[in-house]
Amino acid sequence: MTEPFAPAEVIAAKRDRLELSDSQIDWFIDAYMRNVIAEEQMSAMAMAVLLNGMNRREIVRWTNAYINSGDRMDWSKLNRPTADKHSTGGVGDKITLPLAPVVAACGVSVPQLSGRGLGHTGGTLDKLESIPGWRAKLSNEEMFDVLDKCGAVICAASEHLAPADRRIYALRDVTATVESIPLISASIMSKKIAEGTKALVLDVKVGSGAFMKNVEQARELATTMVAIGNDAGVNTRALLTAMDVPLGRTAGNALEVRESLEVLAGGGPSDVVELTITLAREMLDASGAPTTADPAEVLKNGKAMDVWNAMISAQGGDINAALPTAKHTHDVLAESDGVLARLDALSVGVASWRLGAGRARKEDVVQAGAGIEWHVGFGEPVTQGQKLFTLHTDDESRLPLALEALIPGFAIGQKATDRLPLIIDRIV
Ligand code: URA
Repeated sequence: MTEPFAPAEVIAAKRDRLELSDSQIDWFIDAYMRNVIAEEQMSAMAMAVLLNGMNRREIVRWTNAYINSGDRMDWSKLNRPTADKHSTGGVGDKITLPLAPVVAACGVSVPQLSGRGLGHTGGTLDKLESIPGWRAKLSNEEMFDVLDKCGAVICAASEHLAPADRRIYALRDVTATVESIPLISASIMSKKIAEGTKALVLDVKVGSGAFMKNVEQARELATTMVAIGNDAGVNTRALLTAMDVPLGRTAGNALEVRESLEVLAGGGPSDVVELTITLAREMLDASGAPTTADPAEVLKNGKAMDVWNAMISAQGGDINAALPTAKHTHDVLAESDGVLARLDALSVGVASWRLGAGRARKEDVVQAGAGIEWHVGFGEPVTQGQKLFTLHTDDESRLPLALEALIPGFAIGQKATDRLPLIIDRIV
């Protein structure tokens, strides 16, 4: 086959800050998937994009080229509208676990294709896999059946969904080209558009524990992704939410499932409840469903818990089995009276990761019981000698390095430091 372009010419165009044409973009991704373009050429292109950016047309075309590299799912046979949520990732971010059942209990189906954690942020599939018997990998038919029967399904994306993104993301990870707004946007949105949801709410996290460290960067990412989604016919909106302080009171796989069950039982930490309800309302509204169901109500009356039990059981999970616990625990006590004046999301995330809750490389195995609980929330009063944190791990030799990350990340003082509001902004 004669190729219409030479790889180096297209790379040079982006290097020289020129706009890539639609046909150059389509060809570049397709030729990469045919192994006509080598890994080093795609790496060079990713770096050129990271340094010189892309305009809106180029980003949308690049996203479509990812989508066209694989399958597109179709839920039109379901007799209910669909809505999904994507979080850009944070520490203690277990929101998907209560959120999917809440939205389903309000009458809107949630097809959630989730990922695993890498680095200090946790992954939804790792959390759910701490439930004995639960299976992340489903065939398309199984996925449809769980969604049809239970109203929500949370499972791993098949390798046929945006395979170009899968390969390019792995390459970006090792070539320092992850932090590019056009490439992050295309990567996230290609998977969500190919997943076939009709409505999408993006939870773009801001702060030390998130990808985006400041509000301006997060707003640019959110605006770009909202435009890509709406262009593709997916009713998309975004919330910018705080990740300077970790969410809830736990970080770690089984620990976060336990906390999610508290929320589904009508209790749980107030920030997790507020964010779950706020995102659920956005998803219901974006779906266009004529529902009057109230997300707060389905948490109180047990309907969301009923969906959870059905959904977990349908994927082989034993809802009556005890969640795994770590072999060792270590408490950190308060050295003085005051309030918990600082609690840094990144420090908690890194400490939890070092305890064994996360992975450094894709092939690492995570510990189901590892992680951190904080017994006092940000800004709450503390008395000397009170238990502040409990660290959980199967491997005691991990404690010193975890404490090294955690200790500088909190402080007891007379007054809490300023922090971001939980919901910072809404982008439609
Ligand atoms: N998550 C993704 O799926 N892709 C990115 O590029 C970054 C975060």
